[in-house]
Amino acid sequence: MSSLRVTSTTCLLSFALLLQTVFGVTDPLFHSCSNENFTANGPYATNLNKLMGYLYHQAPPTGFGLGSLGQDPNKAHGLALCRGDVSSSDCKSCITAASSQIHSSCPNSKGAEIWYDECFLKYSDEQFFGQIDNRKKLFMWNVKNVSNPVTFNQKTKELLSQLAKEASVKPKMYAEGELELGYNNTMKLYGLAQCTRDLSHSNCKICLDGIIGDLPNCCDGKGGGRVFTGSCTIRYEIYPFVSA
Ligand SMILES: *[C@@H]1O[C@H](CO)[C@@H](O)[C@H](O)[C@H]1NC(C)=O
Ligand SMILES: *[C@@H]1O[C@H](CO)[C@@H](O)[C@H](O)[C@H]1NC(C)=O
Ligand SMILES: *[C@@H]1O[C@H](CO)[C@@H](O)[C@H](O)[C@H]1NC(C)=O
Repeated sequence: MSSLRVTSTTCLLSFALLLQTVFGVTDPLFHSCSNENFTANGPYATNLNKLMGYLYHQAPPTGFGLGSLGQDPNKAHGLALCRGDVSSSDCKSCITAASSQIHSSCPNSKGAEIWYDECFLKYSDEQFFGQIDNRKKLFMWNVKNVSNPVTFNQKTKELLSQLAKEASVKPKMYAEGELELGYNNTMKLYGLAQCTRDLSHSNCKICLDGIIGDLPNCCDGKGGGRVFTGSCTIRYEIYPFVSA
């Protein structure tokens, strides 16, 4: 069982929410809609619709799609990202679910973001490429406490910091890895770190280091934890969780 908390950095308390739930592959973790609406059947709607179609085709082969369509002020910008270990077909299913869900959850919003365990989809009427988006942060954790939190937290930070360094310089901006916990030969820590590929190497590193720094707020001594933003994500568990 995992817990989920979402915070908006601008209104931390009023927006904080806590859910206890079990997630299926195609259940969204969270979505966020901008307040500004576009006119149904207007030029922005057309551009957005085409952009979603474009991302749906572009993202699955490499796990990432980025694009802009139309002319200002009706230009739509978007990205789709799948978790680095997810197959093209699972990526496609996740993006399909995400674009249909966001269409019904944020029907007329000029901007929106939706998070799934296996993918992330975002669009906006503002050009956002390359900028670190941590307006929303999602925290999930395993409710189980570890028996030796101080050492465990250090090891978690060590593994994820190493993965952040690797992910930031890799073409796919994704890294996964494991670390022996050292109590005996059987306990290992597994982790991943990933950025949206529009970020520069340095912004990727900044984004990941930032959310690693948030771990004490959600996941202190917890046997598993995840943080998601609009630009990067980390996860650790005491069991293997990425697709081989
Ligand atoms: C945008 O649309 C939503 C629902 O359709 C509505 O609740 C909201 O007030 C609208 N926002 C503005 C700024 O008009
Ligand atoms: C984990 O520890 C916290 C804080 O000490 C406690 O409130 C919580 O009930 C514990 N959770 C479990 C599953 O034992
Ligand atoms: C390894 O260590 C863990 C945590 O201390 C313990 O739960 C597990 O039983 C140990 N396994 C073996 C084979 O000793």
